[in-house]
Amino acid sequence: MVYESIAMIIKKQLPAYLKRLPLPESITGFAKLTVSEWLHLLPLLGVLALLGYLTVRPFLPKKKQQKDSLINLKIQKENPKVVNEIDIEDLKSTNVCYCRCWRSKTFPVCDKSHIKHNELTGDNVGPLILKKKVL
Ligand code: FES
Repeated sequence: MVYESIAMIIKKQLPAYLKRLPLPESITGFAKLTVSEWLHLLPLLGVLALLGYLTVRPFLPKKKQQKDSLINLKIQKENPKVVNEIDIEDLKSTNVCYCRCWRSKTFPVCDKSHIKHNELTGDNVGPLILKKKVL
């Protein structure tokens, strides 16, 4: 059913549409077209513009990734998402600091690299401190 519809459009309706197009004999003839003739040309021009764009798109320059918009500059860059899971029951000391600046060399544990980062950038990041109550 779908194939028959597509075949009918390609074999009958498309040729009939193309025959009725008000294409002028020369390029200057486009200036003499009426508004309704331009409207009749619009679907064809749209399809041609889309095909042109799709053809040229692979060669267009890609958007550069803004380096300053990245938070994580080097930790596990091979992973699509860095996730760390820590069981609260496994905490050995009463205070554990986890990095939130993504500059720690012992990530996910804070190594105080945030201090240098804050000095260099004027940022104000710091660790997440988990405290365990001693009962
Ligand atoms: Fe990243 Fe301390 S090193 S928050």
